[in-house]
Amino acid sequence: PSARTFYDEIGGEPTFRTLVARFYAGVREDPVLRPMYPADDWEGAETRLRMFLEQYWGGPRTYSEGRGHPRLRMRHAPFAIDDKARDAWLTHMRTAVDSLELPDEQDATLWGYLEMAARSMQNRWPDE
Ligand code: HEM
Repeated sequence: PSARTFYDEIGGEPTFRTLVARFYAGVREDPVLRPMYPADDWEGAETRLRMFLEQYWGGPRTYSEGRGHPRLRMRHAPFAIDDKARDAWLTHMRTAVDSLELPDEQDATLWGYLEMAARSMQNRWPDE
């Protein structure tokens, strides 16, 4: 048996389902983000993000089985992610993380990663 992962610690699949459902509820209403997403495949987008996050935190490896190596910066290249888009993404993610009501330490672990990852996905800067 493998060691208990952060995925397990915070509640496994139900936790990640709640997280991405809350997140996409916000994204679907967001004037900056909404147009970037595939209007006919919100469910697919939700599944891809959930599978990636589950895998990242030690859960099932389903993401890579279906999508291969994440290469997330490359996959985000088609979208113009400036400060506004990054902040909008983080705002909806913050609301989603809050909805989990995790203990402070787990909240900080999850949020620290998401903030770092969102900064690394930015691909447009003010004076370009
Ligand atoms: C995909 C936007 C940050 C993980 C996408 C898609 C968009 C998008 C428009 C395509 C939706 C789809 O069809 O799957 C953004 C914006 C961000 C951001 C505006 C702002 C910074 C992040 C971060 C992560 C992430 C921080 C990881 C922690 C993913 C994943 C996919 C995805 C896993 C699916 C990739 C695939 O397999 O095709 N994102 N994203 N994104 N995003 Fe983001």
